[in-house]
Order: sequence, then C-alpha cells, then structure tokens
Amino acid sequence: MNSSDVTVQELDIDDLTVRSEILALRDVGVFAAKPHLENRFTEQDLTAKHFGVRLDSSLVACARIDFFSTIADCFYAKQISSLDFRELHTPYASLGRLVVHPKCRRRGFGRLLDLHRIEFAMSRGVSTVLGVVAASYRRDILVSYGFQVLGVCMPCRSGTLDLDDDPIVLAKSFASVC
Ligand SMILES: CC(C)(COP(=O)(O)OP(=O)(O)OC[C@H]1O[C@@H](n2cnc3c(N)ncnc32)[C@H](O)[C@@H]1OP(=O)(O)O)[C@@H](O)C(=O)NCCC(=O)NCCS
Repeated sequence: MNSSDVTVQELDIDDLTVRSEILALRDVGVFAAKPHLENRFTEQDLTAKHFGVRLDSSLVACARIDFFSTIADCFYAKQISSLDFRELHTPYASLGRLVVHPKCRRRGFGRLLDLHRIEFAMSRGVSTVLGVVAASYRRDILVSYGFQVLGVCMPCRSGTLDLDDDPIVLAKSFASVC
C-alpha cells in the first residue's frame, strides 16, 4: 500500500496510547540508530500538532508541527540566531520529528506528511514554515516544495535533540514583505 491509498490523521497527543505509539515509532525509526539519546516526550511535543498515517490500525508514520509568533519564541532560537529573518513574516510554524517505519519507507508517506503539515500551517494563517534538515535529500525535497535555504543552523546535542553537523534551515513563505 502506498501514499495514494492512505489518509493522514491528526493524532491526539493527550491520549496516552497515542503517545506510546509515537515513542515506539521514533524508537524503531530514529533512536535505534542513536542509542545515546533519550526517547521521551518534550515540552514541544505537548504543545505541537501531531499527524500520522496508519496501516491496519498500526501507526507507521508520524510528524509534528510547532507554532510560534516570533523567532525568539522558537525552541531552537539560539541555534538559528545568526540567520536573517527580516524578509520573513510572522507567525511561524516549524516542521519536526518526521519518522516513517523502516519497513514502510519510499512509499510516499514522508511526502504525504510534509505536504499535509504545510497545508495545515497555511490553513492556520501561518506566514512562514521552517524546516531544519541534516540530509541533503531532505533539503532537496523541501526545496521542491518551494522552501528556500536560509543558512546553516548551529549544531545542538542535548536531551532528545541531536542535529548533525551543519544542519540546514529552510523557509517557505506564504506572504511577501510589502
Ligand atoms: C526521511 C524519512 C521520513 C523519509 O520517509 P519516506 O516515507 O521514506 O519518504 P518518501 O517515500 O515520501 O520519499 C520522498 C522522496 O524523498 C527522497 N528520499 C526519501 N528517502 C530517501 C533516502 N533514504 N535517500 C535518498 N532520497 C530519499 C526521494 O526523493 C523520495 O522520492 P522517491 O521515492 O520518489 O525517489 C524516513 O527515511 C525516516 O523516517 N528517516 C528517519 C528519520 C528522519 O531522518 N527524519 C527526517 C528528519 S528531517
């Protein structure tokens, strides 16, 4: 089954069963390769919107989107303080924590969740969507959605966040400066 046969659902983060499903998916999809990091829910997880894809009721892909009014409110503001946001309108959203089960990759679920989150941000009146990526193919995908490269983000290794060297920050703008 591929992405044209499934729908994206909003995940209720207040539901403890859903939280366990998300953590289990992150475990197998991300943290298995990064055993030095703690897989737990963060403050950002609790305030973000989460979306997922289920196959036969099992969660096989999920992602979140964070919302903030100004760059200073962004939870990784320190890491991007050297970048120039003057051309970009507030409010902002940031794509985060995309993970697809290793057995379900390359079927378009990642793309489906990306596009769903971007549309959701637009529907919520967001003017700029940010993305931080480490892999060049993720950068290329975001560029194909209309994102522009803003620059390099300072690496951050703390808690559950582990950005590789030179992660790239991209932005997609829905509004232009008058
Ligand atoms: C990154 C990830 C979410 C991609 O999910 P996915 O469902 O396999 O992605 P899609 O099938 O939607 O792929 C869309 C496009 O991304 C590119 N792509 C995806 N995985 C790729 C890989 N491993 N290498 C190169 N390009 C890749 C391809 O261009 C692909 O299109 P194609 O299959 O038509 O060639 C998944 O590999 C994953 O969970 N990785 C671990 C967590 C992670 O890195 N998250 C992203 C943080 S920014």
